[in-house]
Amino acid sequence: MTIKSRKGIILAGGTGTRLYPITHMVSKQLLPLYDKPMVYYPLSVLMLSHIREVAIISTPRDLPLYRELLGDGTQWGMAFSYIEQAAPEGLAQAYLLAGEFLDGAPSALVLGDNVFFGEGLSAKLKAADARRQGGTVFGYQVADPERYGVVEFDPANNVLSIVEKPEQPKSNYAVTGIYFLDEKAPDLAGQIRPSARGELEITDLLNLYRQAGALSVEKLGRGYAWLDTGTHDSLLEAADFIRTIEKRQNLKVSCPEEIAFLNGWITRDALLMQAEPYLKTQYGQYLVRIANEE
Ligand code: DAU
Repeated sequence: MTIKSRKGIILAGGTGTRLYPITHMVSKQLLPLYDKPMVYYPLSVLMLSHIREVAIISTPRDLPLYRELLGDGTQWGMAFSYIEQAAPEGLAQAYLLAGEFLDGAPSALVLGDNVFFGEGLSAKLKAADARRQGGTVFGYQVADPERYGVVEFDPANNVLSIVEKPEQPKSNYAVTGIYFLDEKAPDLAGQIRPSARGELEITDLLNLYRQAGALSVEKLGRGYAWLDTGTHDSLLEAADFIRTIEKRQNLKVSCPEEIAFLNGWITRDALLMQAEPYLKTQYGQYLVRIANEE
């Protein structure tokens, strides 16, 4: 039997009600985070994991905009598919909608509004990809765990429980929005039932893996940023964070053109060609600089 390469899924639907009126006519994950659309950040995380085949899931209203922005993926040496989610019926529904796309391959699902940054992230992602059996998710300490899926560890770092938005969190560790699961995910997602809020919860799916002794939870420590974009304030703060880092280092965070080039997926000429229409911006000038660096 041949081993199938892991495929990516970006879940970029939902109603965006918490950002009204901004998201009244446009998908939250298309809003700018400083110098690029929000969806570039989770897409970059998949690219850093060396995943080239990606399905983007969004609402029937917004999916055409994603198609217009991202195309078929060949410009970055990738292949993109587009899948509609008729109604926001939960994160785990992504596995049901993407079952045909995955076609028996393991997957990495990333939420379209999740921003990750930190030295060594690529290595952690590649290690998660290399684990062929079971699932890997990442835990991150936050000040407000009750807003997230919360993971409880024993002193030996074994996972005791994962609970969605608990009133009394058992720890400060939130489960971040990237999930590396094996090829069983669509079948297992078919076994879970909607929660009280009417959604197929990702935490219920993760608990099936956990109960089977097949879930690793990796901690992302102090050197990482996992940013929130869920409110007007946190959206601006996330953009400010990206701007601060980019200005200070003169390097871009989550620039898909750059990652495609560094991954060896596109040639120098292709990178320069893509810089062409952007030359009036510092983004375009950055691409030219990257192309000309050793
Ligand atoms: O960000 C990490 C958290 O994401 C996890 O800790 C939680 O366990 C997980 O349930 C999720 O919590 P949220 O409350 O952030 O989920 P939310 O409903 O906001 O959805 C997350 C993103 O996924 C959001 O950008 C909208 C999109 N979405 C959501 C649902 C329910 C969809 O595209 N389709 C959906 O059906």
